[in-house]
Formats: sequence, C-alpha cells, structure tokens
Amino acid sequence: MYAAYPYRYMVTMGRSTRHSSTRPWNALASANARLNDRIVRLKREGLYRTFVRLERRVGLYPTAWLYEADLRNTEEVVSFCSNDYLSMGQHPLVLEAMQTVLRDSGAGAGGTRSISGTTPHHTRLETEIADLHTKEAGLLFTSCFVANDSSIGTLGKLLPGCEIYSDANNHASLISGMKRSGCVTHIFRHNDVVHLDALLSASDRTVPKLVVFESIYSMDGDIAPIGDICDVADKHGALTFLDEVHAVGLYGPTGGGVAQERGIDHRISMISGTLAKGYGVFGGYIAGSAAMVDVVRSFAPKRTGHISGVREPQLSYIDPGSPSRWE
Ligand SMILES: Cc1ncc(COP(=O)(O)O)c(C=O)c1O
Repeated sequence: MYAAYPYRYMVTMGRSTRHSSTRPWNALASANARLNDRIVRLKREGLYRTFVRLERRVGLYPTAWLYEADLRNTEEVVSFCSNDYLSMGQHPLVLEAMQTVLRDSGAGAGGTRSISGTTPHHTRLETEIADLHTKEAGLLFTSCFVANDSSIGTLGKLLPGCEIYSDANNHASLISGMKRSGCVTHIFRHNDVVHLDALLSASDRTVPKLVVFESIYSMDGDIAPIGDICDVADKHGALTFLDEVHAVGLYGPTGGGVAQERGIDHRISMISGTLAKGYGVFGGYIAGSAAMVDVVRSFAPKRTGHISGVREPQLSYIDPGSPSRWE
C-alpha cells in the first residue's frame, strides 16, 4: 500500500486528522510528485518537449519574431518550420474572408451541428471539397488528425471483417484510426507495391479491404506510387484511403493534391486533407462517396469534430468566382 503511494504517505505523515489520507490535496500532491518524476526521467532521456516562442507577422513571411522567456525581448528570425507552405495564412483574401464571416456570423459555431444547425459557410466548403477531389461528398472536422482517426475507425468498424493494409510510414492519425477500427492490420514496406501485392494475394478475397497511405510523406519528402497502389488495390478488390495532407493546396491544377496532378483522384475511394498546411488556416476533412461520408457523419464517435461541441469555428469560404482567388 505504502509502496504504491509513497508520496501520499510522506505528505500525510505527522498529520493528526484520521481522514487526512483521503483529502483531495493529498491525492494531488501524490499525483504531482509522480508526474514530476516522469518529467525528470524524460529530461534525462533527452526527450523533454519545449516550444519555441515564435510569432509570425503578417506581411513578413517567412520571417518571424523569436521571443525570449520573458516574452519581452524579441529577435527577427527566418522560420522554415511552418507547414503554411504558401503563406496562405497571411493572404489578404483569406484574412478578408475570415473577417467578413467573423463580422457577420460571429466567432463561434454556437454548438454542435446536430443541435445548433450548420452554417452555409460549412455547407459550401464541403461541396467545394467534394468537387476538388471529384467525390460525391465532403465532411469537415476540427483537424485532419480527427478526420483520419474518425473516418478509418468508423469505416473499419462498419465493414464486417474488414482488413487494413497500411504503409509502414503512415502518420499517427491514420494509425490511431486503424487501432480504433479493431480491424486486422497488415503493414506493407514503405511505398513497396510488390510487398502490398504479396500481402493482398494472401488475403481472403471475400472480406472487405482498405489500403491506407499518404501521397507526400513529410518526414522523408517522398511521394507514393499512387497509380501503382490503385492498380494493386483494384486487382484485389480493395478500397483506398489516401491522406493528401501535405499536398492539398500545392499540387494539381486546382490544388487537389498529387492524385489530382496525376489525373487519378477518381481512383481513390476516400481522400483526407487539412486546411492547416497549404491552405494556411485550420481544420481537416474527408471526401468520398455519399455513402462513405454519410456513414462517418452518422456513426463516428461523438467526440469527433463535426458533431462535438467544439466545432470548427466559422470557416471562411472564398467564392470560387472571385477573380483573385488563385492569385
Ligand atoms: C500526414 C498527416 N496527416 C494528418 C495530419 C494531421 O493534420 P492536422 O494538422 O489538420 O491535424 C498531419 C499533421 O501533421 C500529417 O502530417
């Protein structure tokens, strides 16, 4: 007992009240001491996280202000650690659209979509996302982490006996969705179509299969052989889920990503993307068949962005007819 709660015992020793060990502050002291121990160990391992105090300034991209700990003194630095690849987060048209929505509709969504309704801004954006990826439907989330996690988790659960085939270098959000789906998951060597083919060849032809991969792998900077992966998936009757997070807004004639650039976006069953990198703002999404998107919308866990109380705030929607839209 004492070995399990050494700090609580230490704190309660010498105190006179009989019930002191159940006091909330004892539990807190014990928890804090244990957690601090964990941090000390993390620092020893050299894995302690620190945040650089940076502020990007509108109009000065790619420079930013680097703050010292007192948050007073600053130094101007060039920042190459941003995923706002095109500086869209500072684009006058984006800022203007956001200001218009803030002024007209307010800062928050006011609640979940199912309770408080959905704004025309979100609806238009979802239609545009579907069009961007040549899909029947789109669905917004608070981030693409949530989009990947909810969509793969939900699809995997609802397709009976589904097996997942995952690239070895897939992002944590995709892995999280696969884990939550409860599906048997096979991992193919990074970008290795021959290995994927071999794994799929050994599978039961009658069960649903989902191949999950990314177009651009940000850590290595390499690009998947999307067409070849689709060929193999088609050969074995597998669905495909492509994460275009690092490509949307940058690749393809209208920024639809690498699959669009190669003219094969129609071959992908579901595409996910973010609004927090190439598009410079925040939020994530999926695009796919009406049935797939509807199932995610209806069955994804309630904590997911599109139905939780923390919905993406009033997103700006830039009219496609705007002549300066693609400047
Ligand atoms: C490949 C990939 N997918 C998904 C995400 C999650 O995107 P978001 O920042 O919108 O949560 C990231 C984020 O870095 C990513 O690199």
